[in-house]
Amino acid sequence: MKEKALSIEHLNFQYDSALALEDVHLDIFEGEFVGIFGPNGGGKTTLLKLILGLLEPMTGKVLLFGKPPEEMRHLIGYVPQAIRLDRDFPISVLEVVMMGALRKLNWLGRYPKDVKRRALDALEQVGLSHKAQSSFGTLSGGEAQRTLIARAIIDTPRLLVLDEPTANIDPEGEQSILEKLRELNKTMTILMVTHDLQTIVDKVGKLLCVQRKVTCLKAKEVCEHFALGLYHTPLTSKNHFSI
Ligand SMILES: Nc1ncnc2c1ncn2[C@@H]1O[C@H](COP(=O)(O)OP(=O)(O)OP(=O)(O)O)[C@@H](O)[C@H]1O
Ligand SMILES: [Mg+2]
Repeated sequence: MKEKALSIEHLNFQYDSALALEDVHLDIFEGEFVGIFGPNGGGKTTLLKLILGLLEPMTGKVLLFGKPPEEMRHLIGYVPQAIRLDRDFPISVLEVVMMGALRKLNWLGRYPKDVKRRALDALEQVGLSHKAQSSFGTLSGGEAQRTLIARAIIDTPRLLVLDEPTANIDPEGEQSILEKLRELNKTMTILMVTHDLQTIVDKVGKLLCVQRKVTCLKAKEVCEHFALGLYHTPLTSKNHFSI
């Protein structure tokens, strides 16, 4: 029996007046690749922040590998939604990846010796070794996103959490990111928020629809629910549908 990577019970959360998440129950097992979708403002990013321990539940609890998130942060890699890195700032791809190990800086402000090697390993895992010395600002959108994934995996996390890593990336770049994630999924559990359901539906094992409440679905069920227009507007275009 696989270990529970994530367990959520009776979770409620609100920022101000209305509940952003209501009565969430969820179990994710080690090795799963989970896609998270839902309408804008549905609570996806909020759910991720609760999982990461960046927000406190109002009621209920979140456990990562059986313990509170604050104790397990070192086992999580996080790629936030729409990260803002100044593209003109003169920093190399390798340096961006090494920033993933910032908390390992010693009191002289230096990284331990093995950080560079681990950053190069992480770049290799996302297929970007050849760009290590390039300026981050010269990368394509897809390459920049893969660099940020490398940054999140520099400490080989057991759980990788990504908030819309393929937003504004062309289909080729998106496929390349998904391929790398599938490789990474051999060694880590993955939770990924996306609006592009059609592209991921056959790549993930489980889907979570987050619309204040969280519904756990299998890929096949999602298609049926969408056809019925249950979660949002029914399918709108031939190739991609937005939610
Ligand atoms: N810091 C905050 N303070 C107050 N309300 C917030 C805050 N962050 C989010 N909200 C509200 O909580 C709800 C859920 O927001 P959240 O960002 O989790 O949605 P989302 O599903 O990630 O949306 P999107 O698809 O647009 O990224 C929204 O109504 C949002 O306005
Ligand atoms: Mg969001």
